[in-house]
Formats: sequence, C-alpha cells, structure tokens
Amino acid sequence: MAHQVRAVVAREKGSPVSLETIVVPDPGPGEALVRIQACGVCHTDLHYREGGINDDFPFLLGHEAAGVVESVGEGVTDVAPGDFVVLNWRAVCGQCRACLRGRPWYCFNTHNAKQKMTLLDGTELSPALGIGAFAEKTLVAAGQCTKVDPSVSPAVAGLLGCGVMAGIGAAINTGNVGRGDSVAVIGCGGVGDAAIAGSRLAGAAKIIAVDIDPRKLETAKKLGATHTVNSKETDPVEAVRELTGGFGADVVIEAVGRPETYKQAFYARDLAGTVVLVGVPTPEMKLELPLLDVFGRGGALKSSWYGDCLPSRDFPMLIDLHLQGRLDLDTFVTETIALDEVEKAFERMHHGDVLRSVVVL
Ligand SMILES: NC(=O)c1ccc[n+]([C@@H]2O[C@H](COP(=O)([O-])OP(=O)(O)OC[C@H]3O[C@@H](n4cnc5c(N)ncnc54)[C@H](O)[C@@H]3O)[C@@H](O)[C@H]2O)c1
Ligand SMILES: [Zn+2]
Ligand SMILES: [Zn+2]
Repeated sequence: MAHQVRAVVAREKGSPVSLETIVVPDPGPGEALVRIQACGVCHTDLHYREGGINDDFPFLLGHEAAGVVESVGEGVTDVAPGDFVVLNWRAVCGQCRACLRGRPWYCFNTHNAKQKMTLLDGTELSPALGIGAFAEKTLVAAGQCTKVDPSVSPAVAGLLGCGVMAGIGAAINTGNVGRGDSVAVIGCGGVGDAAIAGSRLAGAAKIIAVDIDPRKLETAKKLGATHTVNSKETDPVEAVRELTGGFGADVVIEAVGRPETYKQAFYARDLAGTVVLVGVPTPEMKLELPLLDVFGRGGALKSSWYGDCLPSRDFPMLIDLHLQGRLDLDTFVTETIALDEVEKAFERMHHGDVLRSVVVL
C-alpha cells in the first residue's frame, strides 16, 4: 500500500517551493518508512532549490529530521516500528574500500531507499541527500535511521541529522580539537555555531567567533565563544593572531564556503595548525594561495563532510550529552514553523535572521 502525504517540493530551479501531495511506497527490503516529527531548514536545501547541487528536479527537500519508524521492510533488524530515530545521510555500506580500511565515515557507497517517492502523476522525486523529510512521511534505507533517547525534543534531535553534526564533527572529528586548544570559527550560522559548541565540549581554552553579522556573534557567545570578531569592521586574521599571542589559532574552522574566508582561515592559523573547511563552495569558486605558504606553514588543510561523523556512534552520544545539560542544542532552534512556511524560512535564512527554522509536524 502506498501512502499519500503532504510534502515540500522544489519543482524547478530558482522557483519557490510548493506544498504537494506525494506518494510514498511501503518499505521494501532494507527500507524503513518514517513518520516525520520535525525537520530543520538547512542552507543545503536552498542550494538544491537554486540548482547548486545538481539538476535532478523535482526535489523533495528537507534532511535534518527526527521521527518515529512506522514500518520496516524485509530483513530489517536494527530498527522496528515505534523507534524514535534521527535520520542520517551516511548509512555506511561496510564493504567499500573506506569501510574495509576501518574508516566508515568516509564510506563511498552509502545507502538510500531503492524505491522512489513520486508526485501524484508518477514523476519521480529526488529526495535531498537521500532523505526528503519536509514531508509527513518519508522512505529511507533502514541504516539511515539512528535510534536515540526518545525523551529529547524532536525539533532538537533532528538538527543532528545535518548542520549541527557537521559543525560539531568539524571541530571534534576532523579538526581533532582537544583540551587547551585555541580555535577560531569563521562564519557563525548553524554550522559554525555547532563547531563552537563542539570546541567547548572538547575542552578548547580559547574559542574565537568571526562573523560579519553582530547578531550571530551574540549567539556564538552563548554557545561557547570566548572572544568575537566582527570581520566587517576588523581584519579577522590580525584579530585572531592578536588574541592568540601573535601566532594564530591551533584550529581554524571555515563555515562559510568562500575563497576569501578560506584564505582568512589559512592565515589565521598557527604554524603547523589545522584548517577545516566545512562550508560548501559553489562550482565556479577558485582559490589562489602562494604554494610556498602552503608548504612553509605546515600543518593540515582538511575538509569535513558531515563532520566526519558516524551516526550510530555520534548521534546517541550527543543526544545523551544534551540531555545531561552538557551540550546546548536548544539555542539552535530559533523558531518552529509549519510545513507550508519553508519558503519564508529560506528568506529569513538568507537575511541571517535565524540559526535554524525547524518544521514541526
Ligand atoms: N560540510 C558539510 O557536511 C555541511 C553540512 C551542512 C551545511 N554545510 C555548509 O556550511 C555552510 C554554513 O551553513 P549554515 O547552515 O551555518 O549557513 P548560515 O547561512 O546559517 O550561516 C552562514 C554564516 O556565515 C556568515 N558569513 C557570511 N559571509 C561571511 C564572511 N565573508 N565572513 C564571515 N562570516 C560570513 C553569515 O553571517 C552567517 O552567520 C554552508 O555553506 C552550508 O552549505 C556543510
Ligand atoms: Zn562503505
Ligand atoms: Zn544540511
């Protein structure tokens, strides 16, 4: 039996999203049908709508979600109907060369549902990041469902599904931020602020938040920034060096995704320090750096996909830390909205008014 549910669809490049009735099949082998309770609005959804990811329109948007498993297909044993889960876009295969080398967070063959969700006329939908959760129900691979403590609020839990995990993981997993480190974070939206929260959790001694919007710097302080730099008014490289004894930070996290902010990150880091690029650039962007500086300054230049997370390891742990009061996730939820308000939320995001708008169903 297929299910007809309401969902947010991007039909064509650059056009406003629309609320549509879609058809969601019953789960087949290895799949799970999830009743969505909450789904955050991520910048990547907007990238999809603008054709910045690929041209596989129509997209079923939404990918930062939590909900309850409604039914599972044949052979599914890890989750069962009634389980409270956070959806992930890294259901690792266990068999590719990365998985076999014991580095499943780099898995090159992650699982999504095999069956397609469609519009009423049968047009196949492309779910954002293989999830598509601005919908009353969605179909995913069972491995995309990560069970977490059900006492957490769904609006908060869903955030781990993408941006907040990407930020925390950029600091903790990719950047290896540790006790006593100095960290600078360039771009303090949902992802950058999560990198700040992650750095605090990891014991960083100095956390410098850099943004061009003073409102963002205020929230960054709340989440753990010890110092703030408004890079519209002050040269951020100079400022970070000044705040770190003239040297630069041990780890600099770029959470904007632009060449100029990447350069700032590159030069705001101490010799032998680490740069982590978690912001997503667009295809036309180019970076020019003196190769001698790349060589001479040593250290590591890394990028972070989804915070190099392993959902089964990281989601339950972070939810537990949150429930113990050790990780503020509530601050990320600026507002909760209805399914038909996603377009408005894009606008607010564009104007920098929110960390996260979260659709609650
Ligand atoms: N790597 C991943 O797995 C992953 C996952 C999710 C999102 N992302 C990417 O991370 C980036 C940030 O996402 P977000 O949801 O936090 O977006 P956002 O729009 O909420 O935040 C961006 C922030 O950068 C600031 N900013 C813009 N230009 C700046 C500049 N020149 N200098 C300093 N700050 C500047 C803005 O004021 C804002 O606070 C996006 O590129 C997004 O696509 C990456
Ligand atoms: Zn794999
Ligand atoms: Zn996202």
